[in-house]
Formats: sequence, C-alpha cells, structure tokens
Amino acid sequence: MLMYRILLTFCLLIGCAVGSRAGVVALHTPHTSLVLSAPKGGALQWLYYGSQLTAIDLSGITALGGTVAYPVFGLGTSSAEAALAVTHSDGNYTTDLLVADAAQMVQEAHSTLARIPLRDPVYDLCVDYCVRAYTDCDVVEVWTEIWHNEPSAVTLRRYCSAVLPVRRSAVWVSHLHGSWAAEAQMTQQPLQDGVLEIRNKDGVRNGMQDRAEVMFSLDGTPEENSGRTIAAALCYSGNYQLRIVTNWSDYHRLFAGIMAEDAPYTLPSGERFVTPKLAVAYSDEGCSGASRALHAWGRQHQLAHGTALRDVLLNSWEGVYMDITEQAMETMMRDLAELGGELFVMDDGWFGRKYPRTNSQGLGDWQVDTHKLPHGIAGLTQTAARYGVKFGLWIEPEMACLRSALCEAHPEWVLRAPRREVTTGRGSTQVVLDMANPEVQDYVFSIVDTLLTTYPDIAYIKWDANMEMQDYGSGYLADTLQGHTAIAYHKGLERVWQRVRSKYPDVVLQACGSGGGRINWGVLPYFDECWVSDNTDALQRIYTQWGTSYFYPAVAMASHISASPNHQTGRVIPMKYRIDVAMSGRLGIEMQPRQMTAAERALCAEAIADYKRIRPTVQQGDLYRLISPYAHQGVALLMYVGGDKAEAVAFWWQLDTFCGQHLPRLRMAGLNPDRHYRVTELHRRAAQPLAVEGKCYSGRMLMESGIEVPAGHNGEQAWASTVLLLTAVD
Ligand code: GLA
Repeated sequence: MLMYRILLTFCLLIGCAVGSRAGVVALHTPHTSLVLSAPKGGALQWLYYGSQLTAIDLSGITALGGTVAYPVFGLGTSSAEAALAVTHSDGNYTTDLLVADAAQMVQEAHSTLARIPLRDPVYDLCVDYCVRAYTDCDVVEVWTEIWHNEPSAVTLRRYCSAVLPVRRSAVWVSHLHGSWAAEAQMTQQPLQDGVLEIRNKDGVRNGMQDRAEVMFSLDGTPEENSGRTIAAALCYSGNYQLRIVTNWSDYHRLFAGIMAEDAPYTLPSGERFVTPKLAVAYSDEGCSGASRALHAWGRQHQLAHGTALRDVLLNSWEGVYMDITEQAMETMMRDLAELGGELFVMDDGWFGRKYPRTNSQGLGDWQVDTHKLPHGIAGLTQTAARYGVKFGLWIEPEMACLRSALCEAHPEWVLRAPRREVTTGRGSTQVVLDMANPEVQDYVFSIVDTLLTTYPDIAYIKWDANMEMQDYGSGYLADTLQGHTAIAYHKGLERVWQRVRSKYPDVVLQACGSGGGRINWGVLPYFDECWVSDNTDALQRIYTQWGTSYFYPAVAMASHISASPNHQTGRVIPMKYRIDVAMSGRLGIEMQPRQMTAAERALCAEAIADYKRIRPTVQQGDLYRLISPYAHQGVALLMYVGGDKAEAVAFWWQLDTFCGQHLPRLRMAGLNPDRHYRVTELHRRAAQPLAVEGKCYSGRMLMESGIEVPAGHNGEQAWASTVLLLTAVD
C-alpha cells in the first residue's frame, strides 16, 4: 500500500511535470491514466485513456498522436460533428477554441482536478475543459464550463459535456432501453459506421426509456470478466443526448451532453453555463470490471450515504394501494416487525382534505387525510416506534392534480406552454409544476421541510414523479426564453434537492419515477437509492436488475419481494425464488404480509435474518456478473465479494425448466485463489442439503472448476434458486 502511494505520487508529479514542460496533461487513478495534449495557443487533443502509464510511456505519448478533445462548430471542418456550437452576439456561427494557458491543477481530498482554459482568439468566448481523476477509484469525470464577455447574449446551439474517443476496431456497445415496467433492458451491438443516438426528451424523468450510460467493449463481443472496457455515465437528471459517431476518422466518438434539440440556450454575458459531468471508468476486467469501478466511485463519491447499509423495508403500495387506513398501516408495521424488517414506508393515498387523494384528485395537497388517518402522521410514527421500526412516506412534490386546493390557489404554478390549454396526465387531471419558477421551488422545498420539521421521526421519503413534460413551455420564463424550459426545470429541481440535503443530511431519500424513471447518477448525489421498476415480477426483475447493475451498485437498487400471482405480469412464482431475486439488491417487501401463508412467513423471516448477515457484502461488496440471463443458458448467476475477500455471496436463479437440460457449473470469480472457503446454502428449501454444504474449497478451485448446483428442489425443477454464502476459513 505504501509502495503504491509512493508510486502514485511519483506518477502524479511526472504527469504535472510533463504537463508544464510539453503541454501534456496526465491524470491518474489507481489503475488508469487519461492524457491530454494542451499546448498553449494550440488545439486541445485527447491522447490516451486506459491502463495506468509509466513515466517512460508518458515521455513518448505524443508520438502516438491523438484527436481533438472538444471539437467546435464551423471552421475548417464544418462538416464534422461538434461538441459546442455557438451563435455569437453578432450572428457569427463559427467558433475556434485554443488552449489559452497551462492547465490549472488542483489537489482535492480524493481527486486531482485539471482545469484547462480554452479561448476563442476572435470572440471573447471562454470554455474551461475540466477533468477530475480520483485517487481512490478508477473513474475520471469530464465536463466543460462556458461563459463569455461579448457585447450581448450568445446562443448555445450545442453544448456537450465531453467527447470520448474510442479507437476504431471491433468495438461493441452495451446500453439500456425500455419503458414503464420494462426498464433497463440490455442491448449489445457492434459499432458500425453512422450515428447511434441514445436520447431522452421526457423532460422530467430521464431513466424511463433509454438510459444515459453506455459501456464500450474494445476487444469484440462483450465479456463480463475479461477484455478492455470503458463505461461512461452522463450525470444529469434531465433531457440528454448521447451520440456515438463513427465516420471517416479512426475513432468512434461518444458525444455526451444535455439534449440541445429544442433547447437553444441564450447565454448572457458573465453567466457561466456548467455542463453536467460525464463519469468514465476503464477496466481490463470486462463489463463487470467497469461496473465495479463505477460502483466504487458511486458509493464513495456520488450516492448519498453510499457507504452506509440500508434498512430492510416494507412499502405499502402493492399491499393496499391507496386504501390507506390507520388499522391497515398498523397491521403492516406489526407484520414487518415480526418478519425482522426495520422500516415501514406509507405510499400514495394518505393526503388531501378538500379533495381526498384518488387517482384523479388531491395531488399537491400534502395535508393528512384525517378521515383515513385520524391521528395523523404523529399517530403513525408513534405506532412505528411501538413496533420498533422506522417510518417513511411517499410524496410526489413536483406534481399536482388540477382538482386540488393547490391548483385552485395557484393555477399559474402549472407548467404549460404560454397561452395554451394544459395537457393532463394520470387520472386525466395530473399536471407538472413549473420548477423554473422560484416560487414553485420554494413551495416544493416547503413540502419536505414542513413534513420533516413537524415530524422529525420521519426517517425516509420516497420522492416520486409520475408524469413527463407533456407541454413544452413555462409561464414563468420570458417568451424569448421558452427554449430554456427543460433545462430551467432541472436547474430549479436541483436547487430544491440541494436545499433539502443541506437542511436534512440524514434523511434517507428514494428517487422514484413511475418505477425506474429517475435512475441517473445526476440524481443520486441527493438520493440514497432508486426504485428499480414498478414491475416486481421476480423473473423479469432478473433482467431489469442485471441491466441496472451495469451502472448502479446493489446498495442503490430497491428490490422488493412481491405477491404471487404478480400484480404486473400475473405470473405465479414461489416465495423462495421471489426472495432470492430481491435479496440481490437492497431488500424490501412490496406486498401484504397478511397474504403470506405461515410457511411463507417463516421463510421470509429466515431470509431477512440471512440478508442482515450478508448485507455488508451485498450492499458494499464487489459485483461479479457471471452468467447473463440474456445468454440463454437456463440460469443467471452473479456474486458479490466482500472488500477483503473473506466473504462472498453467490445468487443462482434458474430461468427456465426443460427435461434433459444441461445447466452450467457454478464457476465463481473475485475470490482469493489461495484461500479456502466454506460453502453454506442460505434459507434452504430442499429437504436434503447440497452435497457441497459445509465443505471447503480453494478460491482457485471454485473459480476454475466450480461446483454443481442441482436443478430444482425436492424433485420440483421449476423456479429453482440458490443463495450460497462463502466464508474464508484460513
Ligand atoms: C408510481 C410508483 C409506485 C407507487 C405509485 C403511487 O407508480 O412507481 O411505486 O408509488 O406511483 O401512485
């Protein structure tokens, strides 16, 4: 460790020294390097990104050539894709950006920040190209800051955060797409000539369909545990655009940034436009390796309370939907406590006085419905305390129903295109509030502030958003600035989240957007976790959670045991399998415990106790994805390995059942080859223990040869699943 630190310091010094001598800026993470050429008066070039370079590598790096790091529109190559396109104050459509000075290097607590000043030699337009390299995880963040001192406003027509060049070869890209109840479905494809665009224009929740992350496999078909791999995640809560451009050049280039279409940005003199950061991770250990790098960065630097363990919770939605009563809440709290759970969350349906909440009214009126809850929130927090569980509740503060006291009092707070009727969503009355308006921001903050001040025992808030921006326009913004609507919404929202977090740093917040609509690293600095999907069907969840795990760690993935038949798919799946899928993320329950049989209750209680035992490894360990459900091998398999490799947990889920099926062996990864591990099956359902139960094997054997997992339990082959705990014995 000491040697490593000395080496790292040496490398950093070399990087800076080379930077000052030859305009080369080299940034290093523990295992990777990013190198730029920034000669004063010249163009900024991207030279290298990959495994960490030595000082000797660096001394010859410019000989290998590079490519423009942040291409701008209009001069010399106006046909080329641009990261930045500006209409200057006099109408000129072209921009030139040259390095104005040496990079400014700032040493931060866990990172080094390089700020490279770029200036247009003719117009007073400035761009700072910023790169942050972490010293405790293999992630770099890249973004730009744009401002000017021209006589009047300029218009930004394109304003990418970064361009990531990947040398042309047999490169494949993995990315996620989907829809409500089918989020994070994975597509893997070779990159070919042309443009692959991944985008979102929802306006409110950018994770519902295509996701703002990609993973490049540089050595052909994506492999989970081998091959050079780069993951890139745009950290932004609003509309985005990722374009992978493959054309006449030697590179595939990822242009990543806020969606500029329908959003020209008028930038007044002196205002700084800061683009969201693009987080980039490199690994030579395949897709799982790149995921592990992003997960480590996420837990340590991006996710609220990322290194804290999460409670086992029961959320009331699928148990009672909006039929909330004091009795029903108390029964669920008691059942949760008996099962060993730790936190009860009351979902939608608890509020509205003049218009008691239904699907089509009451949203926006965050006063308790005292017909349903005569003793209010205080009564519920007291009940929760009596059962020894924490209490949380659901809100959807960016939204309202037109039938609400709020909209009657403040019709001007509804987001709508000026001089037009508003289009409504859920229940034909739901609308989005205009987060561009500072009064609305204050109001949204006050919802959380009032709840948390009045009821300090609220430990958790589920923050939902169930509607897209159906009409583009804001009554608050000037007519000439309507193109700012989407960006201003998210600036306003982020301001509120910042206020909430600075006043209530400890409350646990879940980001929900009709399911997984709010899964983005730009949201998570303010939130502890995301609701992965409204689809709680265990089989479909394997696919959804698999995709989500490409970019997000288990600690942030809310994953709940639900009813059978499942409420979304109608599929009947045994409790054991439902539990085993939910346990691979942040475990919770999304059903009425009263509907469990006695045997199911007992199994559930046993599994919750097991989960508490393995929680540090699942929530904070390193993920190794082993057999993908998308690979159609009849089984999906992943494991988590604790930081010191003393403990690991393997999740094995059989996906289909055919006679004469040959299932693969359970071959592991990430263990210490030279240690021995005892195998223990958790909450076993089969009458007979596994043949390997209690036996010890070396990490090497478990990884190279593996163990057999029999198909099915007790002669039943359908819906077999196994959770194995591996404990180092020497
Ligand atoms: C959304 C959420 C659900 C639930 C409902 C309540 O659909 O994703 O979990 O909270 O809203 O209306």
